[in-house]
Amino acid sequence: MSATLQRFDVRGLACVVTGAASGIGLAYAEVMAEHGARVSLFDLNATGLQAAGQRLRAQGADVRTAVVDVTDRAALQAAFERSASAHGGLDVLFANAGIDAGPGFLTPGNERNPAGSLEGLDEAHWDAVIATNLTSVFTSLRAAARLMKPKGSGSIIVTTSNAAIINEAIVGTPYMPAKAGAASLVRQAAMELARYGIRVNAIAPGPFVTNIAGGRLRNPADREAFQVRVPMHRVADTEEIKPLALFLASQASSFVTGAQLVIDGGQMLGRVD
Ligand SMILES: NC(=O)c1ccc[n+]([C@@H]2O[C@H](COP(=O)([O-])OP(=O)(O)OC[C@H]3O[C@@H](n4cnc5c(N)ncnc54)[C@H](O)[C@@H]3O)[C@@H](O)[C@H]2O)c1
Repeated sequence: MSATLQRFDVRGLACVVTGAASGIGLAYAEVMAEHGARVSLFDLNATGLQAAGQRLRAQGADVRTAVVDVTDRAALQAAFERSASAHGGLDVLFANAGIDAGPGFLTPGNERNPAGSLEGLDEAHWDAVIATNLTSVFTSLRAAARLMKPKGSGSIIVTTSNAAIINEAIVGTPYMPAKAGAASLVRQAAMELARYGIRVNAIAPGPFVTNIAGGRLRNPADREAFQVRVPMHRVADTEEIKPLALFLASQASSFVTGAQLVIDGGQMLGRVD
């Protein structure tokens, strides 16, 4: 193997993925497990978690699962500690769990949508999006910093969104500040933790076909509403995020910190009809 390819080696690394039962988090867990890392999968969804854990173990991976709600700070901290005891510390964290944005102030058909307007927004949904998509990133970063600092090394990857950078009318309003906040937290943590050998980066996806929002990108009308906003005129498969995850988790990205790597088929560049 070339010296360059060796830098992607993650064998034996202890890794935690939050929101690992489905979609992008499952892809992170799969690519790390396939390449020999020891992976702890955290998720609320016990059934999905069990299925993912069994499948990866059947492939010979050293995988454990923990049913945990990332918005429960004490439970999340405890899950990190149990995982570190079982896997000999923590080398890589993917803080990925996130929930649906809710309705945008425009429908996919470009109609005004009262349920997504500032006046109509459900306050409980606002609180849930901030708790899951932003505050849990802080809780996860803090737990990881506690475990990684004594080792003097580590890589933390946060799933943000291109919505952290560009606003989108058909995506729910609470998602924008939650993801922008998570992106800002990544940069702040990267500055603080650099001296301890810990790198912190973000992956900012555009539309990927997952189970988020009821798996709406599998619905042709919804998919088209997103595709027209993407210069490559398609949505993505979660397989496409795996190489980027491996890059950021490994020494292949040894001088990359505080970055937000966008993977969105050019959506950030603007619409091309
Ligand atoms: N799919 C996309 O198009 C897209 C685009 C940009 C960003 N993202 C982000 O990617 C991340 C993963 O989303 P996805 O699209 O794979 O969705 P998904 O619904 O397929 O997977 C999310 C997983 O997180 C889990 N989860 C949700 N709330 C949780 C909680 N409180 N505690 C523990 N686990 C919880 C869910 O059970 C689920 O297994 C999210 O942060 C999302 O905002 C997704």
